[in-house]
Amino acid sequence: MSARQDSAARHHAAPRRELLSQPRAEHCPRYLPPVPARIVTLPGDGIGPEIMAAAIRVLDALGDFEYDEKLLGGASIDVHGTALTDDTLEACKRADAVLLAAVGGPKWDTTDPSAPRPEQGLLGLRKGLGLFANLRPVRPSPALLHASPLKPERIQGTDLLVVRELTGGIYFGESGRDGDTAHDDCAYSVGEVERIARVAFESARTKVTSVDKANVLETSRLWREVVTRVHEEEFPGVPLEHLLVDNAAMQLVSAPSSFDVIVTENLFGDILSDEAAMLTGSLGMLPSASVGGDTHGGPAGPSGTSTHGGPAGPSGTSGPGLFEPVHGSAPDIAGTGKANPLAMFGSVALMLRHGLGSEDASAALDSAIDRALQDGIRTADLGGSHTTEDATAAVLAHL
Ligand code: IPM
Ligand code: MG
Repeated sequence: MSARQDSAARHHAAPRRELLSQPRAEHCPRYLPPVPARIVTLPGDGIGPEIMAAAIRVLDALGDFEYDEKLLGGASIDVHGTALTDDTLEACKRADAVLLAAVGGPKWDTTDPSAPRPEQGLLGLRKGLGLFANLRPVRPSPALLHASPLKPERIQGTDLLVVRELTGGIYFGESGRDGDTAHDDCAYSVGEVERIARVAFESARTKVTSVDKANVLETSRLWREVVTRVHEEEFPGVPLEHLLVDNAAMQLVSAPSSFDVIVTENLFGDILSDEAAMLTGSLGMLPSASVGGDTHGGPAGPSGTSTHGGPAGPSGTSGPGLFEPVHGSAPDIAGTGKANPLAMFGSVALMLRHGLGSEDASAALDSAIDRALQDGIRTADLGGSHTTEDATAAVLAHL
């Protein structure tokens, strides 16, 4: 075994991170529970329908599921005039898990503030389902060490988790126009920071890095104060550091393996997670899980400090999680069969593990993805010429 393969194998052998305190199901039978789980599927726009179709083939190879497909984003605007209908939101609330592909595209791009936009569907869903925590694990596949724009020795050993606050901040503040001025307000409450801080501490293996802009923003000073207090009172054993967002952006590319859990507010998390995604070689590789389930909008209940044996999901959560790849709808390649379905498959694996309590099925899928990459599967985003179909067939062959 060459030195590179040896270190790749060691990297590969690292145990997978526990994102949430416990899988949602009471017990985890060897594949799947006897009653088929109900999954609402939201193919959305652009490459969304293609990668969703691939994901359903993979799910069907793993077990028995009930699917309820709904429109979201531009596809919903075209039919209903709005990006998220009550019917879609209610179906999602009743589901065991929600699987989303992508929304958006040039067809619906507009600067008219009164026109519906696809992204409103996604934001409305996050808010409507109370999904305040977005978890984006960044773990470059050993086979892709050379696909990253960074030197392999730089990304080697990277295994980090971005914990992004998802239902507050500038995304949901008051916004508007007044004459030739526009504004977007950023607000955070103590309760909103406490609950996301708990998710971060509960997911940590070695440390938590809290990212803010406390030298400039008042919301960041509140953020830092609350994270520090939650740390002192509830998680004193987990090392905590604070980084300013500009410094964090720099360190993500200069020393990515020095991070464990990065917790940050909504907009910083959006930006840093795309940056972190490139460590894996392509934005087409990064899955995500959004959890919370506090549909009443109030603060989540108190949590224990233990990462084992607590209630399902992170502190005070209930209700279905939303699982989606981080990449967007890639309208430029929609319909060409070139989309990389692997981040979608990774999102299915997160859904199986953290949304449906099917650890074995999830592990089987993760390992099939790794093996497909080891076999040399490379879609265009990874510098290859394999198609969505090639990548899907390769993963299915390893299941
Ligand atoms: C993401 C996306 C969304 C966001 C867009 C599509 C609204 O970029 O999930 O990161 O900004 O949250
Ligand atoms: Mg984004």
